[in-house]
Amino acid sequence: MSDDSILNTAVIGCGGHARHHFGMIADEPRLHLVAAADIDATRLEQAKTQHRPDRTFADYREMLDQCDLDLVYVVTMPGHLLPIVLDCMARHLHVSVEKSPGMTSAETEEMATAGRESRGKAIVSFNRRYFPEVLAVRRLVQERGGAVHCSGTYNKTLSLIGTPAMAGIAPDPVICDAIHHVDLIRWLAGPTPERAARAVAVHSEVADGERAGSHRHNAVIRFDTGAIGTFMSHYGVGFRIQRAEVHAEDFSAYLDLTRERACELYAAERGGSSSALDEPLDLDAVGGPNFNETSHFANCIFEDTEPWSTLDDAVVTMHLCEAIRSGHKGPL
Ligand SMILES: NC(=O)c1ccc[n+]([C@@H]2O[C@H](COP(=O)([O-])OP(=O)(O)OC[C@H]3O[C@@H](n4cnc5c(N)ncnc54)[C@H](O)[C@@H]3O)[C@@H](O)[C@H]2O)c1
Repeated sequence: MSDDSILNTAVIGCGGHARHHFGMIADEPRLHLVAAADIDATRLEQAKTQHRPDRTFADYREMLDQCDLDLVYVVTMPGHLLPIVLDCMARHLHVSVEKSPGMTSAETEEMATAGRESRGKAIVSFNRRYFPEVLAVRRLVQERGGAVHCSGTYNKTLSLIGTPAMAGIAPDPVICDAIHHVDLIRWLAGPTPERAARAVAVHSEVADGERAGSHRHNAVIRFDTGAIGTFMSHYGVGFRIQRAEVHAEDFSAYLDLTRERACELYAAERGGSSSALDEPLDLDAVGGPNFNETSHFANCIFEDTEPWSTLDDAVVTMHLCEAIRSGHKGPL
């Protein structure tokens, strides 16, 4: 680090999703945007005018050679992540890796193995884990002894993911995209503030539609915590809906993460009445309403702690996505 209190930061891949990372970097006072790289000149120019990095590069390797960096966000499509992430790790930089972290769990494992040799830390951008509403609900659930059941729904209209147009660039939709809610139910079922649950068995039914990309999954998952999870993801249906629920003894939370985040909470008295809880979620107890993956990663770097979504943990989520996609039935 050139200045001990500031992380010199760069972004590789300045496409549609990168604007969220640029926004979080701008909002985090401990990060300074030193550089951005993209092979697409138009996107690089847009990033230059909209997000004002000190320097821009068509070749990310030149950027790594010429800039004094601490932290790099790699925001390319999954099929392009692996060599870039490995290059950053070989230079001992801290790295944020987009989801899905590679095309397959084998690629995620390769990144995780390289990460062990690096002095830099790596976080996988499973951003749902860092939503303050999700963290506040998790806290309530863990105070009540942990999740007994959780579920995730992730439905979308037809997109290019899962079609020949995305071959080699993006894996199947449940791995590339609905992975968010596969990971989220692991996280909601997690037994401690830092740990996600691991699936020990899954029963998945896959029934794809006739159109390319209309992938359909229904899965029941048993976790190592004893909780049961259910997961539904259908592409090529009527609307984009992202919901989750989690239940503990005498407690239920229903989360809508489709657009504006909303949460309904319910609690029951033993042998008595049940009611909706009126008090708002305590977001201040989990880092405040603006907490996000970027603030968490900066905390981890400055405090020398492990991110909640490491590459090793992402391997577990990738294996579960692959099991769901393949219609696996039985122990994992
Ligand atoms: N967390 C979320 O909610 C969320 C949402 C959308 C997309 N994503 C993820 O973000 C990533 C990017 O998605 P997107 O929609 O922005 O894709 P995109 O295609 O719009 O952008 C990717 C960019 O990477 C650039 N690129 C590719 N190879 C490069 C290289 N070697 N050097 C420099 N730049 C390179 C491309 O030119 C492109 O501009 C994907 O992995 C996707 O899964 C996450």
